[in-house]
Amino acid sequence: MTKILAIETSCDETAAAVVQDGRQVLSNIVATQIEMHAKYGGVFPEMASRMHVETIVPVVREALEKASLTYDDLAAVAVTYGPGLPGSLLVGVNVAKGIALGRGLPLVGINHLEGHIYSHWLRVEGDGMAPDALQFPVLILIVSGGHTELILMRDHLQYEKLGATLDDASGEAYDKVARLLQLGYPGGPQIEKIAVEGNPHAFRFNKPKVDDEFAFSFSGIKTAVLRTVQSYGPIGPDGALSVRVPIPDLAASFQHSVIDQLVSKTVAAAERYGATAILLSGGVSANKMLRYVMKTKAPVPVYWPPLWLCTDNAAMIGAAAHFRFVAGQRAGWDLDIDPNLKLVE
Ligand code: KG4
Ligand code: ZN
Repeated sequence: MTKILAIETSCDETAAAVVQDGRQVLSNIVATQIEMHAKYGGVFPEMASRMHVETIVPVVREALEKASLTYDDLAAVAVTYGPGLPGSLLVGVNVAKGIALGRGLPLVGINHLEGHIYSHWLRVEGDGMAPDALQFPVLILIVSGGHTELILMRDHLQYEKLGATLDDASGEAYDKVARLLQLGYPGGPQIEKIAVEGNPHAFRFNKPKVDDEFAFSFSGIKTAVLRTVQSYGPIGPDGALSVRVPIPDLAASFQHSVIDQLVSKTVAAAERYGATAILLSGGVSANKMLRYVMKTKAPVPVYWPPLWLCTDNAAMIGAAAHFRFVAGQRAGWDLDIDPNLKLVE
């Protein structure tokens, strides 16, 4: 049995977890900075890295305590080394190196996106969880604040990029439109909540014209929302909107067009490549409407992790690390952060 201590500090969550055999979550601690960043309407990188510095040691300690383990019980230390905010990644990588060096443990470097993918291999309670006997190839839709990618996975650790966003990530579009509509940060959950009260067909935001069949684009929809808001009157210097702006209808119509694009491309890719299942990963996969529409339209089963595994956490990093560890992969002491790390070049 391999027990891996995993550390994740790529953005605004300081997280540590202990995962056994890539499947079992023995502990999972997340210290979120959302409240602090909400004051600025988004992640403030300088503050994020400082908060990681303050909280990482207690978070790691708590992860071991909750798992009732000591460093002697561990097989390896895993850490996210990219993609993400440079100052944030540096904190996690240096702490992981320090622990590994001090305790004579091997170090495993993990791509944050690979972590999101491997959240599906963890065996936890949840209505959308993938079964143990998942057959390759599977199609993965990664939808987060920084990424929107369609990945075909033909085997463990084997990825083929079918398409990605040409401009904003889907979560980023949610966050920007939420800011415009003065709904607060992070925008995804706020838009989802208020969209329930609106009519998704009130406004028609045309599908972006993208040459590449499996590429995404969201900035046009975001601009179309802005133009619609402006058609009701000028936006005030503090971002205040005309009282006539129908916020629920705009949120619902925006969400409808984002989800329509995500679902139609994913379904087409699943058919083209004969995927046995569609796996939703990343923060936006917490969206219930996305899950529902995908499930209704997909030709194969659709799975999603429970909420606490959709958003950033270290358990998913520990799951991915297990598969790299058993494949004999180790990082050197020169492991450096890579803020623009790609899953597939
Ligand atoms: O994966 P994640 O926690 O962090 C990144 O790696 O980016 O994703 C965060 C993103 C944010 O943009 C947030 O607005 C979005 O996920 N998000 C949602 C929902 N919950 C979080 N978007 C739509 N609907 C949601 N319910
Ligand atoms: Zn993420």
